[in-house]
Amino acid sequence: MPTIAIEGARFHWEEAGAGDPVLFIHGFPFNASQWQPQLGGLSFGWRGIAPDLRGFGHSDVRPDSSFTMDDMADDLRDLLDHLAVEQAVVCGLSMGGYVALAFWRRHGLRVRALVLCDTRAEADTTEGRRSRQELAARVRAEGSAAVAQSLLPSLLAEGTFRDRPDVVATVRGMMEFTPPETLARASLGMAERSDATALLATIRVPTLVVVGAEDGLTPPTHAESMVAAIRAARLAVIPRAGHLANLEDPATFNSVLGEFLADLPKPAPSPARPVRQQRSPHS
Ligand code: MLT
Repeated sequence: MPTIAIEGARFHWEEAGAGDPVLFIHGFPFNASQWQPQLGGLSFGWRGIAPDLRGFGHSDVRPDSSFTMDDMADDLRDLLDHLAVEQAVVCGLSMGGYVALAFWRRHGLRVRALVLCDTRAEADTTEGRRSRQELAARVRAEGSAAVAQSLLPSLLAEGTFRDRPDVVATVRGMMEFTPPETLARASLGMAERSDATALLATIRVPTLVVVGAEDGLTPPTHAESMVAAIRAARLAVIPRAGHLANLEDPATFNSVLGEFLADLPKPAPSPARPVRQQRSPHS
């Protein structure tokens, strides 16, 4: 199991394939295994790198570390440094999309292209922030399984619930595996994320926006507004998928992603960059 230490805590990722790198950033409250159908299905000569964000999956987080989208973006920069990856296609779903946008803002030179799935650029409304605070209090009181039970109905399309018990079980399993404190802290971290709407106009790399037609949490209207605001963006709507399009219809998702990757211009060779020191436990 590959791991490095970030801020003194174990940071884990999964990898598959060989070729130019694609960094897959999972949503909330999931983990790297959300990208299993992509890591297993990258038949188009790419190297998939799927980290467990801090506190999720097999990654840890120090109790005194902060837990913002920017922190998570910086962890990914550390991971790319460790892997000596200069540039990657950065693909994030939902919370992973918030992190991908933070990564673009903070480390844009490391981004070869962006894939924004089932996500949005807007910050939370006041009401949305309050719900996240309530969720954090609830998970601390009742544990992850109770919260998983209440989040599940909004995550998947009706047809997925009916026909894909395996996907439902995978999603439930990832949520129940997430420690309550991670659920609480990441929820509060999302609540304080900044609005990225104005950032969209700064995106100069090829961008694919993917959304499940039945995504009720970040509906296709959000995807359409992002595409309108980004200079070189294309939109793919996955029919009969909900908020977790890559898991609900991996064949269509992989085909859309594969076409986008195949169309990317070849990266220009870049000079070797000095290896950064990893952040110290208290940086
Ligand atoms: C996710 O799937 O990452 C969440 O729905 C994001 C959110 O709660 O805003």
